[in-house]
Amino acid sequence: MITPFRRNWSPKELFDALTPAMFAAEPSTVRARWDKLWPDLYTEYDARYLKQELVARNLIASDEAAAFFNAWAIDEERHTDGFIRIIELVANGSEKDLRARLDARTHDFGPIVEHLKDEFSLMVIIAFDEMCTCRAYAAEKPFYDALGNNTFHHWLREVIADEAVHSMNAVNVIRARYRDRIDQAATILHNLIRASHNLRYSGTFVLDYFGAVYSKELLADSRLATMRNIAKPLIV
Ligand SMILES: [Fe+2]
Ligand SMILES: [Fe+2]
Repeated sequence: MITPFRRNWSPKELFDALTPAMFAAEPSTVRARWDKLWPDLYTEYDARYLKQELVARNLIASDEAAAFFNAWAIDEERHTDGFIRIIELVANGSEKDLRARLDARTHDFGPIVEHLKDEFSLMVIIAFDEMCTCRAYAAEKPFYDALGNNTFHHWLREVIADEAVHSMNAVNVIRARYRDRIDQAATILHNLIRASHNLRYSGTFVLDYFGAVYSKELLADSRLATMRNIAKPLIV
């Protein structure tokens, strides 16, 4: 069985030397930072709800996919913890309040279930979604640079690398288990992208394509890159 790759780092250690006093700013700046970081936090946190939904719908069928989602869930919790710490540092948040806000949100998987037909379509969508996330974070570099501490640059590098690994781990499940179906991946992603134009994000982790960085080009390029990766032979 192929096993997912996992990177080893800790946001707690990364941010250990930083304090909120180092990032004090005007209320309008703090507000703008919050508005930017809060959606990043809750979309990461929504990974746990997606996983619950997939388990409830019996969509995780193979040992490879189960191993993928276990490794992935630990990483997405790590990203959640990191964003909570960042909001504490730069946007006047507190972990207790943020956790309460996160728990108060609602989740509706209705709009995406038609795309999650089986494990294969699920893995294709995850591979694509993680590629989009990876590229969207890469576009956030100016925001983190403006915070004026190199630790945030380091954070962004770690998160981007994790998201790239998620996409490749999902691709590897597809290449190992669904070689005979890869010609269906293009249609799945075409339909997903078309549907995403009319969808509001409803707490599903996937299809969080809102905000300025999620351009048509980003989605199209991520689709192409994912398709290219799926088509490469699996080397184990
Ligand atoms: Fe993440
Ligand atoms: Fe991810």
